[in-house]
Amino acid sequence: MESIVITEVALRDGLQNQAVTVATPDKLQLIRLLAQAGVTSLEATSFVSPKAVPQMADAAELVPQVLSALPDLRMSVLVPNAKGLERAHAAGAQEIAVVLSATETMNRKNINMSLAQATDVSEQTLQAARARGLRTRAYVAVAFDCPFEGAVPLDVVAALSRRMLDAGAQEIVIADTIGSASPGQVKQRLGTLTQCVPAQQLAVHFHDTRAMGVANAWAALEAGIRRFDASVGGIGGCPFAPGAAGNVATEDLVLMAGQSGFRCGIDINGLLDAIAFAEQLLQRRLGGRAITWLQRQRDKGVAALAA
Ligand code: HMG
Ligand code: MG
Repeated sequence: MESIVITEVALRDGLQNQAVTVATPDKLQLIRLLAQAGVTSLEATSFVSPKAVPQMADAAELVPQVLSALPDLRMSVLVPNAKGLERAHAAGAQEIAVVLSATETMNRKNINMSLAQATDVSEQTLQAARARGLRTRAYVAVAFDCPFEGAVPLDVVAALSRRMLDAGAQEIVIADTIGSASPGQVKQRLGTLTQCVPAQQLAVHFHDTRAMGVANAWAALEAGIRRFDASVGGIGGCPFAPGAAGNVATEDLVLMAGQSGFRCGIDINGLLDAIAFAEQLLQRRLGGRAITWLQRQRDKGVAALAA
């Protein structure tokens, strides 16, 4: 059986857009539940301006707590600039992710930089992170459509991906920020992108605005991608990208991959426990497209996936 790696992003992408403030001990408890479910790779927070994203203001407190509670977890944190890298490094983070959008307007709205500035800053941040021995990811956001500028040219996405790889990114995360991609497009774009970035270094980050997240993940699998971002319960959305829904739900992705012959080491019932806890924190119902069926299987004592 082939393996895939899922990076859980509920703590960062999921929480950054929530109206309810989640306390640091509750974030740690959610991370513990995810680790108990078998999650081994997780983006825990972002070192961004607390004025821009108040929910992430406790990043410097959370990171050392996660490191001490779960030393074996591969934890990444998002940093938009040199100050973010300094803060992340001081907190002990060993992996960072920069965020570069493929259009002028999305960079301005998200990190208050032009495309050229954002490209330079992301390159410098990756180089500085590598010089400190940190692991690195680079998001290429709005890699399909931009909420402000519409369709994004594939050659721009390819050129930015290549520049981030050359600057030291060990993983390039192709992000469908507003969830507008279709499986046909995913197949076509990744077919081109795997020619300029090795497939092992490409990850995909789908938002599920139009219920195509799982289909898009399948198209990516078929294109040779084995690294996926997902958010438990489908929590998520970028506060600076209007119309974006949550990420593809981790439980949906685990179900699809498992039933299609790919192992990821994550237990669905463990994810259901994490979802129940997140529901208490956010005071609303959560869950991806398969949640009702998954809960029913659990209640009947029937495994959703063969062991
Ligand atoms: P700015 O206002 O242009 O920054 O914001 P500045 O350099 O002029 O500084 C303004 C203030 O922010 C100063 O503080 C700085 O010290 C401080 P003041 O003097 O006013 O007290 N500052 C910082 N504080 C903490 N951490 C930092 C930092 N940098 C500066 N790193 C900035 C620029 C990038 C900071 C701001 O725009 C920002 O924080 N934006 C947040 C972006 C964000 O979190 N977006 C969501 C994540 S991206 C996403 O969701 C997409 C993704 O999921 C993929 C996808 O789906 O496409 C990854
Ligand atoms: Mg996102």
